[in-house]
Amino acid sequence: MRIVLGVSGGIAAYKACLLLRRLSEQGHEVTVIPTEAALRFVGEPTWAALSGRPVQHDVWTSVHEVPHVRLGQSADLVIVAPATADLIAKAAHGLADDLLTNTLLTTQAPVVIAPAMHTEMWQHAATQANVATLRDRGLHVMDPASGRLTGSDTGPGRLAEPEDIEAFALAAVQESLGAGGASASSALDLAGTRVLVSAGGTREPLDPVRYLGNRSSGKQGHALAEDASRRGAQVTLVTTTDRPAPTGADVVGVETALEMRDAVLSRAADHDIVVMVAAVADFRPKARVDSKIKKTIGQDDAPTIELVRNPDILAELVQQRGEARFPILVGFAAETGDRDGGVLDHARAKLIRKGCDLLVANEVGDGVTFGQDTSTVHLLRLAHPDEVQTIGPADKDVVARAVWDVAVEMHSWS
Ligand code: CTP
Repeated sequence: MRIVLGVSGGIAAYKACLLLRRLSEQGHEVTVIPTEAALRFVGEPTWAALSGRPVQHDVWTSVHEVPHVRLGQSADLVIVAPATADLIAKAAHGLADDLLTNTLLTTQAPVVIAPAMHTEMWQHAATQANVATLRDRGLHVMDPASGRLTGSDTGPGRLAEPEDIEAFALAAVQESLGAGGASASSALDLAGTRVLVSAGGTREPLDPVRYLGNRSSGKQGHALAEDASRRGAQVTLVTTTDRPAPTGADVVGVETALEMRDAVLSRAADHDIVVMVAAVADFRPKARVDSKIKKTIGQDDAPTIELVRNPDILAELVQQRGEARFPILVGFAAETGDRDGGVLDHARAKLIRKGCDLLVANEVGDGVTFGQDTSTVHLLRLAHPDEVQTIGPADKDVVARAVWDVAVEMHSWS
């Protein structure tokens, strides 16, 4: 997930360092926005080092990137910890005098507020009214913990423990996903997991204007990337299309099979699951002609194009992984029945030949699957090749969810 961690100026800012570390270790991309007061307690280098990302703290830096809008809009979750009485008051009144309060006004993501202040400030009628306002608006305001405060006094006002803030925040995200219709069982079960999805059909150039291509639209691959991101994964999407990609995904644009091979093989080892949805051309023209191939006027000529084999990326992934358990490798196969066997016979043979852990066999034919919104797929696992799970005809989003359900199960066993 893409998380914004807002830190306001209280001594408990040091505890936000532990929260930041936990979130980063789970694989989330965390951008820290400390207020000026927070930076008096914990300096910018600490936030930058722990998050591995530049720290944003004012609206006047990188103005061309419109940070006061962009950070809030692109976040999947905003956490403010610690939230001082002052920060809570500003949020309740819609003030926007720094980057953090601007972000709170621009985000559509779930917002979690973890207060920390002296007991008197927490119990003050103004603070309680502000908290009630924020809760009414749907923000998730935690109750502070009770215990020893900065001085010798004790009472409610301590910042909740980092693990409790994390659990509370994940529950808030889960709740928002539930409201959006995602199944509760699938919510965030890919949190902390890095997945790579290849999508689209490769284009193999003949000359500057022509290529050999195929009918893959990239819909299924992008649907998988989208669902993985929704479920909390850190997504790398290697794609030949310019379809929308999930927020926060690392998108690598490629065109040819060779480019896709380089992009996938160089990154695979950094991922837990690799799903090869792309329709990779098995052949490419032996030579790419530098200028447009012309017909000869007055003659009935036609060029003969010599093809050569492209590498099989999935097979190379299996080889590169060797004896290692990760990444889990998922292949897709477009199959039709013929006189040598049905779709499932061909799919089973391919699963064993390719050696991937899971094969998603698409039934294809005229007007079926390619470019369409629905498809029928059979899921076959190398560990149990005789068991088949059939999905569809179903929307490609439904297929994507079913594939991740199985991949998550395999990941948890590995
Ligand atoms: N694939 C790949 N590299 C290739 C061709 C295919 O990585 N050069 C991957 C696809 O992304 C897919 C899987 O292999 O996940 C199955 O692709 P498919 O083209 O159906 O399999 P082939 O082995 O090429 O078999 P066929 O002879 O049926 O085309």
